[in-house]
Amino acid sequence: MTNLFANRVLNNDTSDLNEVFKNSANPGNISFAGGFPDPQFFPKADLEQAYRDAIEDDGQGIFQYSSTQGLPALRQKIANRMADHADVHVSADNVLLTQGGQQAIDLVAKLLLNHGDAMAIEGPTYMGALAAFDTYEPTYYEIPVDDDGMNIQQLQRTLQAHPEIKLIYTIPDFHNPTGTTMSSERRKALVDLANQYDVIILEDSPYRDLRYSGHSVPSIKHYDTEGRVIFISSFSKILSPALRTGWMVADDDIMKELVNLKSASDVQSPNITLAAINTYLDHHDIDTHIATISNAYRTKRDAMLSALDRYFPKNVHYTRPAGGFFIWVTLPTGVDAKELLNDVVIPEAHVAYVPSACQFASRQVKNGFRLNFTNLDETTITRGIKQLGAILQPARLMTAPTDKLAVQF
Ligand SMILES: Cc1ncc(COP(=O)(O)O)c(C=O)c1O
Repeated sequence: MTNLFANRVLNNDTSDLNEVFKNSANPGNISFAGGFPDPQFFPKADLEQAYRDAIEDDGQGIFQYSSTQGLPALRQKIANRMADHADVHVSADNVLLTQGGQQAIDLVAKLLLNHGDAMAIEGPTYMGALAAFDTYEPTYYEIPVDDDGMNIQQLQRTLQAHPEIKLIYTIPDFHNPTGTTMSSERRKALVDLANQYDVIILEDSPYRDLRYSGHSVPSIKHYDTEGRVIFISSFSKILSPALRTGWMVADDDIMKELVNLKSASDVQSPNITLAAINTYLDHHDIDTHIATISNAYRTKRDAMLSALDRYFPKNVHYTRPAGGFFIWVTLPTGVDAKELLNDVVIPEAHVAYVPSACQFASRQVKNGFRLNFTNLDETTITRGIKQLGAILQPARLMTAPTDKLAVQF
């Protein structure tokens, strides 16, 4: 019956991803693959109380259908937070509550992309965004990322050559998967280019509040002069992903269409959860909670960086993120990180990572991988990196069972 499925489904190959998560779910492996928060910091008792209070305070109404845009009081709190933390000044009418950042990405894709439409995307990028965009079958133009974020000169050349590009998707803060942050100069230049070439920017920023060193930079939306930046973020990484609650900030024309699309998609986000988050925020200082998890994640990041410095060979490059969840590793050109994972790393080192190919729209860059440092304790992080480092030693690789690997170093 699969012959009845739409092309967009048939063309959407997620086998790489399924394999990655199968490997990381094996309890015998140390998995750096998932992008999971540390569960010990989920504020279980506080959220439990917030759900109870929200239901008690609201009586029967909370169980009813409600507005698509979501609870006004929570939208107002987010608007206030946008002013304080992202230097973006909007009203609650410009905030839409979504089922995670993931739904927000899907809504933007639905808003803008017809089959074959052109978009610019960072290479590498967030796998879940690729899964969402792939469904709309865009033509991708991949822009490399360095320590200061998306390469704006390359973007300019691409926009010049392809003025049909409609959308630029970027993760400017503690990028998934590289961990790098876009400089403020580049943010401003990006908005200037979007104005010049009439493009919409999707600024996806779920890690923005999780900074462990250095200073915050204004959001891209802060530099927006023509209402062409859509900002999205989420409670997933700062409270709990199970809440499935994120938000989008957009100017009026775009917001109107996003609300219509969300209504067609799921009518509204679960009202009880939105009310519980609102009650949680009434009774707790979320910035104190964010400071607690940031301290813990800083220690984990430092443990991973020290282990990388100690156990990885010098011809392997890795990023040094100032926040977020991930470190990106670049192996010497020619090494296939996916083959290495399946042939050597999992069977011998019992470690899992996410190989690079499935994190590039082109699927062509094979010599990198993503490591997550938030989900495991420091001792396990150090042990896993030591085991992985032993596999990556040039001498060790020469004796690896695959010929392809042996010739690369
Ligand atoms: C860059 C980025 N955007 C969006 C999401 C989606 O998160 P959620 O739907 O849980 O808010 C993630 C999750 O890992 C992410 O890394």
